[in-house]
Amino acid sequence: MSISLYEKEQLFKLDTKNTSYVIGIVDEEKFLGHVYYGAKLKDHHAGYLMRVNENPFVPSKNNRDRVSFLDSFAMEYPAHGLGDYRESCISIRTMQGNVGLSLNYVSHKITEGKTSFRNLPSSFGSREDCSVLEILCEDKTTGLQAVLQYGVFEDVDVITRSVKVINEGEEPVYLTKVYSACLDMDNKDFEAISLHGSWARERQIQSVPVSHGKYSVESIRGESSHQDHPFMALKTKNATQETGEVYAMHFVYSGNFKVQVQADQFDQVRMVMGIHPTDFAWRLESKEEFQAPEVVMVYSDKGLGQMTRTFHDFYRKHLIRSEYKNKKRPILINNWEATYFDFNTDKLISIAKQASELGIEMLVMDDGWFGNRYDDNRALGDWFVNEEKLKGGLKYLVDEVNKLGMKFGIWFEPEMISPDSDLYREHPDWAIAIPGREASLCRNQYVLDLTRQKVRDYAYECVAKILRSANIEYVKWDMNRQLSDIGSAELPADRMGELYHRYVLAVYEMQERLIQEFPHLLLENCSGGGARFDPGMLYFSPQIWCSDDTDAIERLKIQEGTALIYPLSSMGAHVSDCPNHTVGRVTPFETRGYVALAGTFGYELDVTKIPEEDREMIPEQVAMYHKYNDLVREGDYYRIASYAENHYFDCYGVVSKDKKEALYTFVQVLNRPNYHSRRLQLKGLDPEKVYEIEGEEGTYTGEILMKAGINIQNPWGDFKGKLIHLTEV
Ligand code: GLA
Repeated sequence: MSISLYEKEQLFKLDTKNTSYVIGIVDEEKFLGHVYYGAKLKDHHAGYLMRVNENPFVPSKNNRDRVSFLDSFAMEYPAHGLGDYRESCISIRTMQGNVGLSLNYVSHKITEGKTSFRNLPSSFGSREDCSVLEILCEDKTTGLQAVLQYGVFEDVDVITRSVKVINEGEEPVYLTKVYSACLDMDNKDFEAISLHGSWARERQIQSVPVSHGKYSVESIRGESSHQDHPFMALKTKNATQETGEVYAMHFVYSGNFKVQVQADQFDQVRMVMGIHPTDFAWRLESKEEFQAPEVVMVYSDKGLGQMTRTFHDFYRKHLIRSEYKNKKRPILINNWEATYFDFNTDKLISIAKQASELGIEMLVMDDGWFGNRYDDNRALGDWFVNEEKLKGGLKYLVDEVNKLGMKFGIWFEPEMISPDSDLYREHPDWAIAIPGREASLCRNQYVLDLTRQKVRDYAYECVAKILRSANIEYVKWDMNRQLSDIGSAELPADRMGELYHRYVLAVYEMQERLIQEFPHLLLENCSGGGARFDPGMLYFSPQIWCSDDTDAIERLKIQEGTALIYPLSSMGAHVSDCPNHTVGRVTPFETRGYVALAGTFGYELDVTKIPEEDREMIPEQVAMYHKYNDLVREGDYYRIASYAENHYFDCYGVVSKDKKEALYTFVQVLNRPNYHSRRLQLKGLDPEKVYEIEGEEGTYTGEILMKAGINIQNPWGDFKGKLIHLTEV
């Protein structure tokens, strides 16, 4: 039983294998307080931390200073407007225009097993893996209720949080803010880690000291974005990969978000996460419910490495659903960087022919196969096959590719509409726009107003019709611009503040429909590269395109940031041509292969045109993928050195759960004069086991390899990589 209620002390204790989380109920008014989150407690007597006995400001003792209580008490789910001046989690506006809310304990429910939410991606677990606590709170004045939801995943050390708001009042109410989780703690000299970037430079790790005031990471772009990521971790100062405490939150959501840490006047910190309140106002009718998305919380007292491995295990076990999640993905070749828009059936078949001879298993036809799509200025929305390019039609092409023994995959961008498209000429009101104002273009396209059922149905049918027409086994679902000019031709004025969230729900609904109708489809999400790489999308697709930057060296940083939270099995990574199309860098083909091996692995180049010596290496790389993918996909990830930090070399490893096998990747970015070799202390091995290193004489104990390390001869030149493969003797 991982959830206990201690009636006498009025405490709930949530336990996972290595962590505990304690919530208390205090005072006659039954405020819900946060007592503890951290290393596992055997003893539950932590209620004294709420300082109820010596707190002179508890309202029942001293209502004169209620505000002092509200503004300092460690709250489990703080509401806005009555005297807690820190960032609140929930805010409303009544029909009379009033704000202010106090959510106090009413009752609770404990159940075993967890199902996902009805219309939102969220975690799941069996009765053996997971227990759920729901605490019902109520605001007596308005009748508004909030059910605080906790999923306790004992096996993987994760606690999920969310909230369902129910309007039990007689009148509608506007929700102007609904966050999903809050963590009130004392400041342990925390540093906040977050992920930032831009197009082609996603998820770069940043760390800043937490100081007084508010520090937030947020997106109001309608998607989780290239620029910021719905993640924050507070780590104790000087915490490393192996040591120190870490409190992390990650949002299972693909739209506007905010995560914030605030240090207050008493050096307490409050960390909150949820849907971004900017331009958000949800009209909740009497008796209606609003389900907020889920937050995944991880606590580690063994540094960032442990946090990483916990997230990886959790997503692999409790969020990703695809039948591919524990399977090798077919090695694909995508024609985007090979041809851009300039291709036809013959060209694609010539790529497929050559690729199949080299062991590549799937051809993916990217952008440009439909309507009048000869460049990126037109035709989004016109999802009918361009038979000038694809002579003989799509089915003919797919059949020909299948005859070569290869699978076939296709690209879509179903959420978009080009002004120069038949669809737009027929339905200009289908684009998201503010009536009376010309909407801003981005890549010469608008976003479809998917909040409208008929628009959603049209977009879905376009995709489904194509998939029904031929043996298509993979879809790359792209989204190449962010939302702006928020307006819908159908939503009433007082519901316009629902558009951003309704848009995300619509995308989820479409993807759910897709995987229900095509359960064996391999879906890869994408957004101009990695702008919608988030746990929400992972619920629908087991892999997401990491970045449009395929340069092996840039990828080291992007993949380090991504792998900080996401399993390697989810990171779309390809070997591409050189000079690299984004940065113009030339790197060895071999190194490009090593770096792509840390993801789904595939190719993005014209295999008929690359240098002969590169082409000759492809069968070796294919064999390498088949040899290591089970380990890479299912193993434990260890970060050993970071090029982003040392500007010099990178090293990470994956160790099998039984510690019988390990693979370390070393990439020397820039060589240094007079350096002959370096010592690398390996991580994650069993100190008691004896290992051999492939290609070398001798055996070594795990202890020696981890404490003393191995010697790596410095390669001659820049951008050189090396794999170190260990097996137990
Ligand atoms: C986005 C994707 C690319 C490619 C192009 C096609 O940028 O990230 O991989 O599919 O769109 O337009």
